[in-house]
Amino acid sequence: MSIPTRLIGKAAIVTGAGRGIGHAMALRLAQEGADVAIVDINQESAEETANEIRALNRRSLALSVDLSRIDLIAAMIDEVVAGFGRLDIIINNAGRVEIKPFLDVTEKEWDQTIDLNLKGTYFCIQAAARQMVKQGAGGRIVNMSSVAGRHGRADSSAYAASKMGIISVTQSAALALAKYNILVNAICPGIVPTPMWDQIDDDRARLFGYEKGTARAALVETVPLKRAAEAEEIAATAAFLASDDSSFITGQAINVDGGMEMN
Ligand SMILES: NC(=O)c1ccc[n+]([C@@H]2O[C@H](COP(=O)([O-])OP(=O)(O)OC[C@H]3O[C@@H](n4cnc5c(N)ncnc54)[C@H](O)[C@@H]3O)[C@@H](O)[C@H]2O)c1
Repeated sequence: MSIPTRLIGKAAIVTGAGRGIGHAMALRLAQEGADVAIVDINQESAEETANEIRALNRRSLALSVDLSRIDLIAAMIDEVVAGFGRLDIIINNAGRVEIKPFLDVTEKEWDQTIDLNLKGTYFCIQAAARQMVKQGAGGRIVNMSSVAGRHGRADSSAYAASKMGIISVTQSAALALAKYNILVNAICPGIVPTPMWDQIDDDRARLFGYEKGTARAALVETVPLKRAAEAEEIAATAAFLASDDSSFITGQAINVDGGMEMN
């Protein structure tokens, strides 16, 4: 399949792009022509992704930032704008999950998940949008929700709350920013084999006594397409939402899940 070049001349940020889905999205944006800043708590993996982007003859920056530290976000945006001269696209992807029975979740665990997934996403949207408004040329914001944002979850309740919250924040931001032609959408992936999923599998095996891998295999069986996603399939949707091909889509949460959810 040939990859379109819809993003030539665009400057983008992908958070949590040191590995997993974020890594695939950063590479896809670069393949489509964008310069891409990698923001990740892990400096080494951020540098590795940035080098892969430079090998595609696109500009890249690697920034090590803990995005649950809201006080660091405005400076992160300023650094990218200083490097690229502008900001057209941000993909708010960095996230964490904690598998824990509802009755056992601590305040600290709740805060860690909400601070990164929901609060971090909110303030990244706000800081990026302030820059896009200043530029006056519109912009694209894509937020990473999940099928876990569609329903509550007994063993990952803080995560589900954060991902449902991201859908609400996506709608609010889309309403607030429409007059600037800044389009804001969310993606709800289903099962994507990444280090996060390995952790989920390990935690479920440890907590509930499953044999490792069986919980994921049972879940994959419930997917109408009978398989997990490739990270590149999520990346293709993100690139579409970052491009002019989605110019009349805003405030949406799009399931990319092989048919697991249909609402
Ligand atoms: N893998 C899936 O099946 C799946 C399904 C639905 C939604 N998602 C969502 O997609 C996103 C990416 O998931 P993934 O599976 O690639 O996860 P992952 O754990 O493999 O990668 C997450 C990345 O975020 C970075 N990160 C973690 N904490 C950070 C922080 N405080 N500040 C900055 N960066 C930080 C990590 O270093 C890592 O590079 C997440 O928001 C996740 O909730 C994943």
